[in-house]
Amino acid sequence: MERTFIMIKPDAVQRGLIGEIIRRFEQRGLKLVAMRFVHVSRALAEKHYAVHKERPFYAGLIEYITSGPVVAMVWEGTNAIQAARNTMGATNPVDAAPGTIRADLGMEIGRNLVHGSDGPETADFEIGLWFGDDIPGWERDADRWIFE
Ligand code: RTP
Ligand code: MG
Repeated sequence: MERTFIMIKPDAVQRGLIGEIIRRFEQRGLKLVAMRFVHVSRALAEKHYAVHKERPFYAGLIEYITSGPVVAMVWEGTNAIQAARNTMGATNPVDAAPGTIRADLGMEIGRNLVHGSDGPETADFEIGLWFGDDIPGWERDADRWIFE
């Protein structure tokens, strides 16, 4: 089982899409293991997006992610990182496949609704940053109907 860090970004919170976005991960079969409603500090945003520090869009990205509350979550499942990114769709909603969160609910790259870890090391770093390293697992009765 793999874990991934998912964040519902401020635009999605403002637009009342928290439930719609959680529904998609939950119905797919991913298992929620942690969730927090967070007013993101600039310091936390800068740590989270440190990898993009030199990019031209960095300042706007920090503004965006600290512009309102977010929902931070950890989801678990087989290949959870790739599964979640496929459910989210391509970074730019205009390139995202229909049926994905970003295509179905978004229009522009700087308002793309969700964040998901892009690999195992990133997932470990982001989960530790937002939740610490001690998130307990739990037995879900439906697991045997979702995971072989
Ligand atoms: P995320 O980290 O949010 O899950 O998105 P991602 O992996 O698909 O994309 P990434 O390259 O990590 O970019 C992080 C976020 O920065 C914003 N962005 N803006 N204006 C631009 O060219 C641009 N490029 C990226 C997006 O909000 C993207 O999700
Ligand atoms: Mg990324």
